[in-house]
Amino acid sequence: MHAIELPSYKEQSPKVAERFARLKQREVIMEAEGISRIFSSEKEEITALSDVSFKAYRREFLSVIGPSGCGKSTLIRILSGLDQATSGQVLLDGKPVAEPGPERGMVFQGYTLFPWLSVKKNVMFGLEVAGLSRATAESEAMQWIDMVGLADFASHYPAQLSGGMKQRVAIARALANQPRVLLMDEPFGALDAQTRAKMQSYLMQIWRNVDITIIFITHDLDEAVYLSDRILVLDAHPGRVREMVEVPVEQPRSPAQHLNPEFLATKNHIEELIHPPSEEEENLPMIRMTTVQDEIF
Ligand SMILES: Nc1ncnc2c1ncn2[C@@H]1O[C@H](COP(=O)(O)OP(=O)(O)OP(=O)(O)O)[C@@H](O)[C@H]1O
Ligand SMILES: [Mg+2]
Repeated sequence: MHAIELPSYKEQSPKVAERFARLKQREVIMEAEGISRIFSSEKEEITALSDVSFKAYRREFLSVIGPSGCGKSTLIRILSGLDQATSGQVLLDGKPVAEPGPERGMVFQGYTLFPWLSVKKNVMFGLEVAGLSRATAESEAMQWIDMVGLADFASHYPAQLSGGMKQRVAIARALANQPRVLLMDEPFGALDAQTRAKMQSYLMQIWRNVDITIIFITHDLDEAVYLSDRILVLDAHPGRVREMVEVPVEQPRSPAQHLNPEFLATKNHIEELIHPPSEEEENLPMIRMTTVQDEIF
């Protein structure tokens, strides 16, 4: 069998190289400086993250990918201020992060809407907590609900919505506080493939329309390459930075790019980083349940 020849993902077109040069001239919104996280119990110590450093620039779409258990959720919890690093620090606009704050919007995989509140009230909740009057909170909430395409569902309750719609409300709720950075932990992980593809294009439209930096956790390679400017690839046990991959696929993205040589080469490169090809294929014993007439190979 002949492997298809793919270009090296590093061969960036001049246009793409210029895009990354411009990206790195923008201000740094969020920075991880030597983040380590050790979980200690009586029995053992687990190093979930070891010396993870990176920068996310203004209006960047940065994904984090890596095998299960490599510390992705731990990292996003530390970035959000929900958990503390054992050593190292997180900076937001140059200032250390110690606790959750309105400048960091969060969207998780599980549906986290308040089931007893309507869509509108769910989005208004954070705004009212932040001290806005009811009328202002309501008009701002409606803008964000409109932005995610759910204006007709404002008075519905979460149980009346599909999984994709619930996540759109969660995105509207996170954006309503006008955060500097949107932190997303496998937000589309529970959705079927078609809904997931739709949500990806919604998210890209929102990202283009709003001045926001997104840090997006996924373990779906296609999703990471399709959405991201750059992808932070983590190793497991302990979770540490394997490589920061600059995605050489031109922006703005469209579904047809899934078959571009640069797209496939980037996917292939990350696949090899995460699952290095084993030296030799293991030959498993065969139990014959077919007759010669059934032979299909
Ligand atoms: N509160 C905790 N106490 C002890 N160990 C923890 C805790 N949270 C995470 N860990 C451990 O830290 C490591 C990283 O976990 P984490 O959930 O961050 O991984 P992940 O990359 O998000 O995995 P997945 O892809 O399955 O979501 C794992 O070995 C996990 O068992
Ligand atoms: Mg996780």
